Amino acid sequence: MRVYSKFASVYDRIGSDQFSAKMFRYTQRLLNRLDYRPRSVLDLACGTGTAALMWADNNVVTYGIDGSEQMLSVARKKARDNGLNISFSRQQLTSFTMAKKVDLATCYFDSLNYLLTLSDLTACFKSARRALYDGGYFIFDVNTPEAMKVLWGSQVYADETENVAWIWKNCYFPKLKRAEIKATFFVRQGSSWERFEENHAERGYGITEIKKVLKISGFKAVKIYECLTFAKPDRKTIRLAVVAQKK
Ligand SMILES: C[S@@+](CC[C@H](N)C(=O)[O-])C[C@H]1O[C@@H](n2cnc3c(N)ncnc32)[C@H](O)[C@@H]1O
Repeated sequence: MRVYSKFASVYDRIGSDQFSAKMFRYTQRLLNRLDYRPRSVLDLACGTGTAALMWADNNVVTYGIDGSEQMLSVARKKARDNGLNISFSRQQLTSFTMAKKVDLATCYFDSLNYLLTLSDLTACFKSARRALYDGGYFIFDVNTPEAMKVLWGSQVYADETENVAWIWKNCYFPKLKRAEIKATFFVRQGSSWERFEENHAERGYGITEIKKVLKISGFKAVKIYECLTFAKPDRKTIRLAVVAQKK
């Protein structure tokens, strides 16, 4: 089964939307430090649209792209229910195009880790550059290889709510800096439970690789932090927050 297909129906219900809400607030703090007020934002891999809704609610012209029609369908419904006008489109991170340029591009919650090669990451950064006005910013988080090793290295995570239970089993391949994750969900349907599975794969990216790909894609790395803080990352950092500017 493709990733983020049936998962879309329970993504917000199991709290997966909360991280991008935090990233939205953190991005505002990063932008305050730069004294930069975007009038338009493109959220890449916007998922169920949580961050996009927050930008739109702050009177920012907002666009979202994602590869999963099911995630986008949840996002569109949330925007409609909240009376927010957001332009969502189904596009790939490696090849998206925009009719209008934006001041800021964002990409939250491991989404870039779904790009498993440096060439796909480069294609994504080049597409982001094309979507931005000169001087525009690209702010994103990304899991490091340390995260793959520590969090996604042959572990099992499980949790439940009243109506959804899930198990994440993972395995890490250090040479590829890649983790494979088998996600199994059980969703209550009346008196029975529906079971479905998705196989996810993420690749960790370190600071050196990120800087290199930014440079060849036409970005300047302005700041790189331990995500959600303003601390300098070190070799134990599991998630980076990157502020890049279109050169
Ligand atoms: C962990 S979710 C994050 C969603 C959202 N950014 C958030 O913070 O809740 C990862 C998202 O990346 C999208 N995605 C993964 N690979 C993609 C690709 N190659 N092109 C477009 N979207 C992709 C998935 O469909 C999914 O919505």
